Amino acid sequence: MICNFSQVMSIDRLVKDAQVVAVVCNQWGDTGKGKFSDYLGANWADVIIRGTGGANAGHTVKVGDLWRVFHLLPSGIMEDANGKTNILGQGMEIHLETLLEEMDEVARNGGTFDNFYISDKAQIVFNHHIEYDKQRHMSMANGGIGSTGRGIGPAYEDRTGRRGVEMGLLCDPVALRERLEKQAKKYDFDVSEVMRKIEPFAQRLVPYIRDTFTLVHEKKEAGKKILLEGAQGLLLSVNDGSYPYVTSSDPSLDGTAKGAGLSAKDVDLCLGIVKFPFMTRVGGGPFPTEIGGHASEAYCASEPTLLQELEAFGIPYKGKKYNSHDPRITELINSPHPFFRGVGLRLLSVEYGATTGRARRVGWIDAVAGRYARRINGPDVILTKVDIGSHLGEIQLCDGYEIDGHITQNFKSNPRFLYGVEPHFATFDGYGDVRGIDEYKGLPSQLHRIIAEYERLTGSNVAALSVGPDRDETIIR
Ligand code: IMP
Repeated sequence: MICNFSQVMSIDRLVKDAQVVAVVCNQWGDTGKGKFSDYLGANWADVIIRGTGGANAGHTVKVGDLWRVFHLLPSGIMEDANGKTNILGQGMEIHLETLLEEMDEVARNGGTFDNFYISDKAQIVFNHHIEYDKQRHMSMANGGIGSTGRGIGPAYEDRTGRRGVEMGLLCDPVALRERLEKQAKKYDFDVSEVMRKIEPFAQRLVPYIRDTFTLVHEKKEAGKKILLEGAQGLLLSVNDGSYPYVTSSDPSLDGTAKGAGLSAKDVDLCLGIVKFPFMTRVGGGPFPTEIGGHASEAYCASEPTLLQELEAFGIPYKGKKYNSHDPRITELINSPHPFFRGVGLRLLSVEYGATTGRARRVGWIDAVAGRYARRINGPDVILTKVDIGSHLGEIQLCDGYEIDGHITQNFKSNPRFLYGVEPHFATFDGYGDVRGIDEYKGLPSQLHRIIAEYERLTGSNVAALSVGPDRDETIIR
């Protein structure tokens, strides 16, 4: 892709002289990292690496003329033919068949894989992991945490249990069998049968497997520009998130760098993505600023889908398409009842999981969680979905948590604390329309005020804003 002069100028303003940039999510996932990974992947980076998670992530990539949701391939994959290197790093858990399906889709649309590599230390998600995950963790109705059912948790359990199968073992059938025998003791499957089934996938993937640790460091030492593409979100981190309501990887800056074969000290700029002025969470677990509180949480635990909500609230639709500005949605957003306001905001912003289709829970922007994220991922943030806030007459910014009669600005990740706090809000009038505005000083002064308060409370620095889904609907400050 050839980028125009103004894109180059604004990217330079955003990344300055950084050589290694990470794009991570500072909330509970689904903040729109993809737009910025795509933007930097296509127009700036030489090397694009994903280092954590697996097919539990969902990322929309333009393939040919169509937008496709990919779960594994890095965002720069369509740039392979232009010489960009794409890597699935050592921290990833990869389901072979899913990866090949995505690769086939890219190839059908003229994409290439000449500079694509898979770490020999990334590990494999098998179908027995997926079955186990679906039975144990997927259904919130049955006491699960609402996992995405992609086998990620069980595969990481095997990694730490020293039973995991590294991609490199696909080249060594004896070692592969030995490792699978260890897994078979836990999941009870026929090792020969699994080896026979994965054989054709392995044959196709082996040419891409290599020591990407050395490759990444060689690229870095050669001065190549490297983009680390985060997955999930900080508050879902197994180390820093609302444990046990978390994913099984560490999507923080540290985890993202480690999963790519680097360390946080190698990263010159970490951009933390923040949905603003509302945020979302999918799956079970605490969410202090949830609009509609426990009623919304219980309703979302029944995992309504988009179509069910459209039916339930009488919104006309065709296929999965509907008018997000339908008067019935506007009515919901302005409802005096927070539960309905939450449903309205979800429909307006189309907050349904890219991987599972589940309704995302919706809450107000939380500066306490934002301050926590700044302490871990650093000060630079990008605000996304700011255009959605244009439709809100009133914005609530959580500026503290009330607990035991006092207010704290310190986030603690344990659910007992998070379920026990009462969010304290500062209320602002709405800021009006922002679409079509292309420079920071042109934004409404009311939005400037809300952003300044968020920066003050969290200690962060807003580097850019997204005011619409298109790449050029981005304001670099
Ligand atoms: P798992 O990662 O499938 O094990 O799911 C664990 C928790 O993380 C569940 O609450 C999921 O809904 C959540 N989760 C996993 N991946 C994503 C994501 O990409 N976006 C948002 N939530 C996610």
